[in-house]
Amino acid sequence: MLKGKTVLLGITGGIAAYKSASLASLLVKAGANVRALMTENAKNFINPITFEALTGHKCVSDTFDRNFEFQVEHVALAKEADAVIIAPATANVIAKLAHGIADDMLTTTVLACRCPKIIVPAMNTAMYENPVTQDNIEWLRHYGMEIVRPANGHLACGDTGAGKMPEPESLIEYVYKSSAFPKDMEGMKVLVTAGPTQEGIDPVRYITNHSSGKMGYSIARVCMLRGASVTLVTGKTALKPPMFVDVVPVVTAKDMYEAVVLRSGEMDIIIKAAAVADYRPRYAAEEKVKKSDGQMTIELERTDDILGYLGAHKKAGQFLCGFSMETENMIENSRIKLEKKHLDLIVANNLKVQGAGFETDTNVVTLIGTDIQEELPIMEKEKVAGCIIDRILKMKET
Ligand SMILES: Cc1cc2nc3c(=O)[nH]c(=O)nc-3n(C[C@H](O)[C@H](O)[C@H](O)COP(=O)(O)O)c2cc1C
Repeated sequence: MLKGKTVLLGITGGIAAYKSASLASLLVKAGANVRALMTENAKNFINPITFEALTGHKCVSDTFDRNFEFQVEHVALAKEADAVIIAPATANVIAKLAHGIADDMLTTTVLACRCPKIIVPAMNTAMYENPVTQDNIEWLRHYGMEIVRPANGHLACGDTGAGKMPEPESLIEYVYKSSAFPKDMEGMKVLVTAGPTQEGIDPVRYITNHSSGKMGYSIARVCMLRGASVTLVTGKTALKPPMFVDVVPVVTAKDMYEAVVLRSGEMDIIIKAAAVADYRPRYAAEEKVKKSDGQMTIELERTDDILGYLGAHKKAGQFLCGFSMETENMIENSRIKLEKKHLDLIVANNLKVQGAGFETDTNVVTLIGTDIQEELPIMEKEKVAGCIIDRILKMKET
């Protein structure tokens, strides 16, 4: 996801510096060209060789190092950078950055950078909560830097409280958000539904379907990474919710319907990727199930038609995208749904095609609009999500 991007990883003299090695490794695995910069004090916590081995580049810390190749190194690095992340950021370096002090390679380079900057404060709780540090952090925010909130927990100094550096797996999400994609959805509000719904039969059993939520979650994440403000209304799934997305958990089709109706009016784009259970037991819990001689009879009724509601209440300029899962006559049935529900786009998949549908990591879809029909090859769901969004943005333009 970071192919072709240069990420400057700043490491300062905090105990969490050992975790920065994992972050460097994750960034490299994500395709980034990683340039590590350390303060002199950081070298007391971790050896620069670790970063040199992981990134394949010299780890720089001396502004006046004579062993460079022609360019003024701090300016050259700053020009090359697509993102800067300082993890951990000591109270000392935060104070320096807040006041434009550039007395070493790291602070000088950051001052020369125009790209997004992510600061990850990590320190003892008293140092973090000290009004001086808080004021300095506020200044960094004021200057447009992204500040990662430290985690609460047991700190190396023995105290328990705020100040712990979050794990590298969540820190890399900040880098993705800052620079993985152009922000072509900035200012847009997107509602995505995902996952299955569950309709209780009795306190033990429920009706549901095989939806894993992967397609909807991928769409929500890609929209967020492209700058949209995203709300994800999701049934129960085994997936970790995407960061920086407003997640609304629901269980039944009725919950999902109500959550969507409440929020749909303010949205620019609505993508219904959830697989809502079509039917629910008709009566109150005790009456709806009849059991005799090993037989169970359940009287069913249809659940609320979420797409139907959205199509009927579409506001001017709002874009509505649905999904259709077919086993036969995919194009014909999807076109009927497109018209009947007043959709702008329908993403159709044939469940009989290998690599398509519910529980796989890939999907094979055809995008269908009134004037378009585009068959996409098999792709990972995050790539499919990108193609769906590209198509939506193109259609919204015209
Ligand atoms: C064992 C030890 C652990 C430290 N951990 C932290 C820390 O987590 N966060 C912090 O802000 N300072 C910490 N310090 C203090 C910094 O190392 C000190 O302020 C230093 O001047 C920071 O230098 P730098 O910001 O140039 O890297 C620690 C010091 C020691 C001796």
